[in-house]
Amino acid sequence: MSINTVNTTVFPGQRPGTSGLRKKVTLFQQAHYLENFVQSVFDTLGDCSGKTLVLGGDGRFHNRAAVQTILRMAAAHGFAKVLVGQGGILSTPAVSCVIRKHGALGGVVLSASHNPGGPDGDFGIKYNIANGGPAPENVTEAIFHRTETISQYRISDAADIDLNRLGAARIEDMDVEVIDSVADYAELMQQLFDFDAIRKLFAGGFRMCFDGMHAVSGPYAKAIIEGQLGAPAGTVINAVPLEDFGGHHPDPNPVNAAQLIEIMAADDAPDFGAASDGDGDRNMILGRKFDVTPSDSLAVLAAHATVAPGYRAGLKGIARSMPTSQAADRVAKALGIPCFETPTGWKFFGNLLDAGKATLCGEESYGTGSDHIREKDGVWAVLFWLNLLAASGKSVEQLVSEHWARYGRNYYSRHDYEAVETHAANELMASLRIKLATLVGQDLGHYVVELADDFEYTDPVDGLVAKQQGVRIVMTNGSRVVFRLSGTGTEGATLRVYLERYEADPAFHHLPTQQALYPLTLIAEQVAGITDWTGRAHPTVTT
Ligand code: G1P
Ligand code: ZN
Repeated sequence: MSINTVNTTVFPGQRPGTSGLRKKVTLFQQAHYLENFVQSVFDTLGDCSGKTLVLGGDGRFHNRAAVQTILRMAAAHGFAKVLVGQGGILSTPAVSCVIRKHGALGGVVLSASHNPGGPDGDFGIKYNIANGGPAPENVTEAIFHRTETISQYRISDAADIDLNRLGAARIEDMDVEVIDSVADYAELMQQLFDFDAIRKLFAGGFRMCFDGMHAVSGPYAKAIIEGQLGAPAGTVINAVPLEDFGGHHPDPNPVNAAQLIEIMAADDAPDFGAASDGDGDRNMILGRKFDVTPSDSLAVLAAHATVAPGYRAGLKGIARSMPTSQAADRVAKALGIPCFETPTGWKFFGNLLDAGKATLCGEESYGTGSDHIREKDGVWAVLFWLNLLAASGKSVEQLVSEHWARYGRNYYSRHDYEAVETHAANELMASLRIKLATLVGQDLGHYVVELADDFEYTDPVDGLVAKQQGVRIVMTNGSRVVFRLSGTGTEGATLRVYLERYEADPAFHHLPTQQALYPLTLIAEQVAGITDWTGRAHPTVTT
């Protein structure tokens, strides 16, 4: 075994986006591409002697090869130890959990989340820091700057280690420990939730369907929900992680999780349905013939948080990303706790959680989490709902309807225009920004504009400012239209239009969502000229 220094040249465009560096697998397969990025991460970290790194991914195509490369490079960089998930598998929340539990310096997550996998699909890499959360922008920018000047990387020529066998191995002077992918995570869940109450619920005939979408959460859900909570075998479907996710799009929303939606729409549907995404950090919650928007899910969990043992002391605050509906704000107000509005992306929650300012946080994009780790957490959200269903004895629909009756309903939908021409998307945003000043006070049919701006966030903990985080047009009654461009796509640009209508009157709480939001859909088109700029008359995906 020896360590080699390899000459390399810069690959342009290795700038991490909303959630790490995501590119086509074929790009990652080019010689030196992954190595350049990994060396740039390590160079940014500096001396790592004596330190532990956590490593794992969602099992997508190229995961195993990348794990072996990163292990050889970690050894060359002088790490003392790497904890790697069995088979190279660790869900994103599990990486966060393992970093925190074992006091690691940080972790590398290999995932492109919900993006399609397989040889023609996407791959991704993300660095998480010692608190278990995604590296903040100053770190990701430093990594990016390093990728722009890199000329060499260091790597051991050691043979592949056996990722399937639990236990110790060694590369150069570095210890490698292949760990059970689920154990640490499952132990944390037992501390947070009332497993006895949930066991009783299942023993009493309660039925659920969890769709693993052939992605990473399958093994976690099987071990916990079927194994520890006693749900019948078969409760978890599509449970085996596949390199191409079985050809499906592992993004839990009503469009992609069509099989689950069909199961939950049947007359004899299970009581509860849920799904998670490629890397296990997203969740979708369903009742029988009833789907819960992620924004409502956050608000309902916040309102009932104290049913779970881990949250019995109450919440310190709630945080939501700006485009997420304002349903949680109303709960925070009723509880007398602060509600923070952050830019899109989980990395913005880290400081608030570390500083003890927020306990629960969530995004409209099927992401919910808390201060138990520093990532959003799919299986955690499902267990929280199970705990709530067990404690209340109510159905999902009952809980949500009662919530609306008390707080009012925030109708919510996101319209995505995927793979539009990048230049046109940028022009659309630029022309919207120019219009902002003239919009305030304008009468747009049903609504009058109260505020129109480009969201800017000053982190209350470190004072860092994030600009141009999305154009929001807020009406006098709190209804909103928000526009932003995706930071995770790998093809052209994706325009996201977020629509939200607040309705206090219970007589209007059961309209079809798109119908309820139609006037705002027209306003979005009117102010942004979506069809003109994108050439699309309709969104690609509506959630
Ligand atoms: C999307 C979601 C965002 C989430 C991110 C990572 O980012 O909108 O809420 O944090 O994926 O899962 P976007 O593509 O919008 O930049
Ligand atoms: Zn994800």
